[in-house]
Amino acid sequence: MMNFDVEKIRAQFPMFAGKDKPLIYLDNAATTQKPQSVIDAVTKYYSEYSANVHRGIYAISEKATHEYESARTRIAKFIGADFEKSIVFTRGATEAINLVAYAWARHNLNPGDEILITEMEHHSNIIPWQLAARDTGATLRYIPIDETGTLVESEKYINPKTKLFAITQQSNVFGTTNPVKELTEIAHSFGAKVLVDAAQAMPHLMVDVVDLDCDFLAISGHKMLAPTGVGALFAKQEILEEMEPFLGGGEMIEQVTMETATWSEIPQKFEAGTPNIAQAIGFGAAVDFINQIGIEKIKDYEGEMTRYAIAKLSEISGMQIYGDLFCRGPVISFNVSGVHSHDLAQLLDMENIAIRAGHHCAQPIMRKLDVPATARASFYLYNTKAEVDALCEAIEKAKWFLATD
Ligand SMILES: Cc1ncc(COP(=O)(O)O)c(C=O)c1O
Repeated sequence: MMNFDVEKIRAQFPMFAGKDKPLIYLDNAATTQKPQSVIDAVTKYYSEYSANVHRGIYAISEKATHEYESARTRIAKFIGADFEKSIVFTRGATEAINLVAYAWARHNLNPGDEILITEMEHHSNIIPWQLAARDTGATLRYIPIDETGTLVESEKYINPKTKLFAITQQSNVFGTTNPVKELTEIAHSFGAKVLVDAAQAMPHLMVDVVDLDCDFLAISGHKMLAPTGVGALFAKQEILEEMEPFLGGGEMIEQVTMETATWSEIPQKFEAGTPNIAQAIGFGAAVDFINQIGIEKIKDYEGEMTRYAIAKLSEISGMQIYGDLFCRGPVISFNVSGVHSHDLAQLLDMENIAIRAGHHCAQPIMRKLDVPATARASFYLYNTKAEVDALCEAIEKAKWFLATD
């Protein structure tokens, strides 16, 4: 592909450097590798201006605060948010969703209300709602999916009782990209709030919160080149301002007496305690890295590689690929007949190829597909077609090795 110099990109990832048999890393839907610029940003914080944020009246604390807040601003800009204080740093997408489930849902839902999710959600967008439904008396409902991993008759499930609609923008099993903008519009017409789980979408395609008009967006940093232990919640300013705090502690308060307290302004109201400063600064560097290449170019490159991978994998006899073959993000779940996905992953590991095997934190999907587990190869901007070829060769070899007849 023109203008996409994958070798130049790969050269910036120390995990791929200087090995006889370079790692073929195809588990990007779980977490991504980190470019040198992200590692450097984290190291620089620890070695040159390691201090707490927002409190110190001395140079390195001011520098740490500046870098931490600058990362927030860059992340806000990346998703088109016009107000950087709409971004709350969290540990990841899971914590972002839980923040909404605790600080919004438990104060706004009542018996008779409905929380609507879909059958293709990651556990992190199921369990918080099961718990919130249990605690508030609200009912949890699911939009069903068909065997291609596509939502079925979504509109039928959105109704005046729906108070919260929480949906993944991209499935971590099927790669399905859901029509979240259209569904948000419908949900809003019934007065529901909408949470979009962008953990899988944001690394691969342009996510614009103004265009989507979602009320909440859950973001995972480590799935888009940032360090582990950082993600973010975007929420509309007026909602964040009205919301009760999530965790209590230092930083999130204005005045504290023995009996009561008042809260800091947003977003500090939701960032109790010392935050994940180094990780957030690393997240800022990750966003810069993606911006330098361009998210649209990344999407096109990955799209071409995914189509190539589907075509090549389909040539393998006994191969079953789950999901829509043509319209999907860069994640491919599959099974090969007669081969358990765990055995396959182990044999591929011997070839230095890392794929995922298991239920992918989406057990309801496994039940729907009537399989205990699947193998999953997921790509990112540093993967190549040569790696796809190596994957297919290694699958053939594993099949031969495991053949019983
Ligand atoms: C669709 C989806 N949502 C949420 C998560 C959780 O993200 P995090 O690891 O940032 O908590 C994942 C992680 O795999 C995911 O795939």
